[in-house]
Amino acid sequence: MNDVLKRIEQYKVVPVVVLENTDHAAPLAKALTGGGLPCAEVTFRTAAAEASIRLMKQTCPEMLVGAGTVINMEQVERALHAGAEFIVSPGFDSEIVDYCLVNHIPVLPGCVTPTEVIRAVKRGMHVVKFFPAEQYGGVDTIRALASAFPGLRFMPTGGIGPSNLKEYLRCDKVFACGGSWMVKKELIAAGNFDRIRELTRGAVRTASHVRG
Ligand code: 3PG
Repeated sequence: MNDVLKRIEQYKVVPVVVLENTDHAAPLAKALTGGGLPCAEVTFRTAAAEASIRLMKQTCPEMLVGAGTVINMEQVERALHAGAEFIVSPGFDSEIVDYCLVNHIPVLPGCVTPTEVIRAVKRGMHVVKFFPAEQYGGVDTIRALASAFPGLRFMPTGGIGPSNLKEYLRCDKVFACGGSWMVKKELIAAGNFDRIRELTRGAVRTASHVRG
């Protein structure tokens, strides 16, 4: 397996970040790293995403920084140019996936139906995103889908938090979990990076209880 994907599996949790203001990128990188989770998926839901990826890597070069909510090729190019090390998409777009596979860029496309999963499996993929996880049936749906596709694992995001993280991580078909509970928009906007560090530590602790 690709080294980036191996690191995501080891971290077990990927903080999904929405940054409105690039000033928050550096302190956020420090808070996540300080909390024991040197990893972030910076979503292209805001104009600040591209510059934030660059700033987070500059601030904490040891961090694994990827781009999330990538829905077109222009965003893929901008993300890679900024230094993104992996691409996450909410759905399965053949153009994005094929570009990444050909260029050896780790990519996690969203797959929630057998038809979407087949597209990924046909391309030799072993990990896909499962989004929005809770709305699509959570861990039960992951187990049911995985039963038809041996070897495939999922990175669920959407509705995961301290109350259900363990349940997801107990399922061996779950590769890692994504979520925004430790990097809530309000905490970032208020500059409450101490709280973010604390919540990140909590996520790491919970994850290691299940997967040591
Ligand atoms: C994502 O983009 O993967 C999700 O929106 C994260 O979902 P959450 O905010 O419910 O954790």
